[in-house]
Amino acid sequence: MSKFMDWVDARFPATKMWEEHLSKYYAPKNFNFLYFFGSLALLVLVNQIVTGVWLTMSFTPSAEEAFASVEYIMRDVEYGWILRYLHSTGASAFFIVVYLHMFRGLLYGSYQKPRELVWLFGMLIYLALMAEAFMGYLLPWGQMSYWGAQVIISLFGAIPVIGDDLTQWIRGDYLISGITLNRFFALHVVALPIVILGLVVLHILALHEVGSNNPDGIDIKKHKDENGIPLDGIPFHPYYTVKDIVGVVVFLFVFCSVVFFFPEMGGYFLEKPNFEQANAFKTPEHIAPVWYFTPFYAILRAVPDKLFGVIAMGAAIAVLFVLPWLDRSPVRSMRYKGWLSKLFLLVFCVAFIILGILGVLAPTPGRTLLSQICTVLYFAYFVLMPFYTRLEKSKPVPERVTG
Ligand code: HEM
Repeated sequence: MSKFMDWVDARFPATKMWEEHLSKYYAPKNFNFLYFFGSLALLVLVNQIVTGVWLTMSFTPSAEEAFASVEYIMRDVEYGWILRYLHSTGASAFFIVVYLHMFRGLLYGSYQKPRELVWLFGMLIYLALMAEAFMGYLLPWGQMSYWGAQVIISLFGAIPVIGDDLTQWIRGDYLISGITLNRFFALHVVALPIVILGLVVLHILALHEVGSNNPDGIDIKKHKDENGIPLDGIPFHPYYTVKDIVGVVVFLFVFCSVVFFFPEMGGYFLEKPNFEQANAFKTPEHIAPVWYFTPFYAILRAVPDKLFGVIAMGAAIAVLFVLPWLDRSPVRSMRYKGWLSKLFLLVFCVAFIILGILGVLAPTPGRTLLSQICTVLYFAYFVLMPFYTRLEKSKPVPERVTG
């Protein structure tokens, strides 16, 4: 074996990469459960790719056959039902895991210097993931696939001058048709997965260049032993590879319960109107995107003007990109930030969840007002950050990691 590895190492940096990224990558020893979600996101990504490849083998990307081919997968293809449920549940699981992963970043200031690029690559992954999920949702060619896409694509029409041409260019037709379905299929199964995989590699390379942050938000490289190994660091392998198995097992328990017992999740993971084939002549009574888009959909609807609504929705995502430059706190972790940062993060999370709920529901005047308040609170977290992070008094940060 060692002779074989010598042969490989003379031609490919296998051992070097193993050591750099696993056995000699020193991670802080105080990671908590919130650090599971990075490896879980990788797991879900692999699940989506593997089940996606197998679904593609039996799916037909045409307006005439797409809906029936999904039914064929569910009923006739051997184990087709499990492939589909693993993939559809995986889509929602991806967003749950990624939202918790991002929340961890907000909580411990992981986006702060020197991890700005880790955060930016993460945000690009998030954008690509939203595009991937949006395009994937058109493929089963159900009523919500069709009308959801109709609502979102028509938003581009609000852009002055080029709006109408742009929507036509995206659809490839005067209305959403088999042509749109076909190009979304190409982007969903080939282009975007390549982009996401590439970005994930860059994300992890950037992280390993600077080293992981931790719940205390302190730099473990400040205290090293005589061999240059951080005193508060432990080798990623075997310590965290084994610890991550705990996260994987718990996750799989929950994930498999959904796949086997509640794959529709009360209409949130697979929406009821999508069990009916797309019909351009029949608008569903109530159109709502899948749950992971609803906070942004609620922001869109909170603004009375269509163009400004689109701008607000775009800004809600864009502002996350500049987060590393908004936080002026001398400390990273929420453990040592002042009460204003804690309050703003709490309010931001509550506003985000309320917006998510409002985005599912049909609008009423009361709900619109609430969504306007929550939109203001959402933006306040970012816009006021340069002020409250400088104003507040932070606590002294310990030299070495605590528990
Ligand atoms: C496919 C999606 C993603 C995958 C597979 C992924 C993977 C990972 C992995 C494996 C880690 C190291 C383990 C950990 O710290 O949990 C990590 C760290 C990190 N990720 Fe992601 N990530 C994804 C999306 C995102 C997104 C959307 C963001 C934020 C916009 C983000 C921000 C971060 C940050 C800031 C860190 C460093 C955390 C720290 O050291 O405290 N990631 N990611």
